Amino acid sequence: MQSLIDAFREAGQGQVFAFLDRLGPTEQARLFAEAAEVDLAELAVLKRSLLGGTPVAAPADLEPAPYVPLPENGGDPERWRQAREVGEAALRAGRVAAFTVAGGQGTRLGFEGPKGTFPVTPVRQRPLFAVFADKLLAAERRYGRRVPWFILTSHQNHAATEAFFAQHRWFGLQADQVHFLRQGRMPAVDASGRILLETPGSLALSPDGHGGSLRALERAGAFDRMAALGADIISYFQVDNPLVRVIDPAFIGWHLLSGSEMSSKMVPKAFPEEKVGHFCRQRGRTCVIEYSDLALDRQRETDPATGRLRFLAGSIAIHLFSREFARRVARGEGGASLPFHRADKKIPTIDREGRPVQPLRPNGIKFELFVFDALPFAANPLVLETDRAGDFAPVKNAEGVDSPATCREAQLRLFAGWLRAVGATLPVDPSGLPLFPIEVSPLFGDDLVSLGESWARLDPKPAAVTPGFCLGHDS
Ligand code: UD1
Repeated sequence: MQSLIDAFREAGQGQVFAFLDRLGPTEQARLFAEAAEVDLAELAVLKRSLLGGTPVAAPADLEPAPYVPLPENGGDPERWRQAREVGEAALRAGRVAAFTVAGGQGTRLGFEGPKGTFPVTPVRQRPLFAVFADKLLAAERRYGRRVPWFILTSHQNHAATEAFFAQHRWFGLQADQVHFLRQGRMPAVDASGRILLETPGSLALSPDGHGGSLRALERAGAFDRMAALGADIISYFQVDNPLVRVIDPAFIGWHLLSGSEMSSKMVPKAFPEEKVGHFCRQRGRTCVIEYSDLALDRQRETDPATGRLRFLAGSIAIHLFSREFARRVARGEGGASLPFHRADKKIPTIDREGRPVQPLRPNGIKFELFVFDALPFAANPLVLETDRAGDFAPVKNAEGVDSPATCREAQLRLFAGWLRAVGATLPVDPSGLPLFPIEVSPLFGDDLVSLGESWARLDPKPAAVTPGFCLGHDS
């Protein structure tokens, strides 16, 4: 342990052990374990690159990134059809693994417990994790191959997440099909780069961002496991979005047809200030510029020819990775390493005497990796348009935009739209919102095509759609 203390002292981080004499053996062991997690060399680089000076503004030479439009918006319908076929063949060959990032702290929602346990569906109140599991089961039934599922957790929610799955018997999946991996942590530092203590015996540590998910896959041996299963395409999505097409054959097909190492879905931004990342091109490379990093006047710029927003392509954080590309980024091979971003935060800490301090203003800096920063390193990156109503309704905030209420309405509109398209009658308001709650399980259909097929097989068809109507739940 002395060598660890020496290394911290040499790095100018000796304060980490300032209260060592006050700690009992268990507390000391914990502090040493936490300190051993810290990569001092990495931290020294961050101190030089991200601390001091002015925050890096978004570069001026940004252009909007090109994207492939949906058939209804000018895309080639024949190519879309072909892509779907190619994607279905890949699914039948077992080439796809699902990957959910669920390591966030979910502070904005104010929900106790891992976000994936949040009850989200309108009638059955199925939790987010159950919705994704249903979608994977539906894909398994359709394509005859089990889809391995990797779930990124944090130190904070790992045990609770695993317990939730065990309690619900993995929602009908096989226990060995679901793999939980804990993401890494980064220490928070003060303005001069000194690591902050949360208590006399623990560091102020927080998750290293969803970009840390790739390192976590590597650490857990997940890439090798995928390779052993024959999966070479990773379908990546966030835990907050129950509409996500977890397994999307057309997207997979486009990814393969383009020879892309990383593909991403976009939706046209709903309004200029919408809090989504922007797909951009910079010096010939595709990238995502976060909403907080693109000046508002640029977000509001319009294209004189079309009158639409210039930076229209919003990222909904749905990506496909080729497995070997993700592995290269995780290892930082060939210069493909993700940069850290700084976030100034209020970080509970202690004073010189070891007394707790609850800051009222940002007092420290957290470092996070973003997964979309892999895009500039990818060969043939592809940005594909998707239909917002069928792919994106996240639960982020307790109220207002992206809240449980807006997500519920988006699900209801989607279900009602599908049912009406296949000929069912049900009352809806002018915005397409049904006048009472209904629910369609992904096991019955998770897009119009699969729903249409199930509906055609249904005999007899339901006489009427009534309040609380549910389709396709096994139990
Ligand atoms: C994110 C994207 C934004 C995108 C939007 C779409 C970032 C920085 N921004 O915004 O470009 O348009 O989603 O919904 O990601 N997570 C972890 N570990 C972490 C941090 C986050 O697993 O350390 C997971 C969360 O559990 C969640 C997801 O990453 O599933 C998104 O995190 P969040 O911080 O909520 O990002 P947003 O600001 O919503």
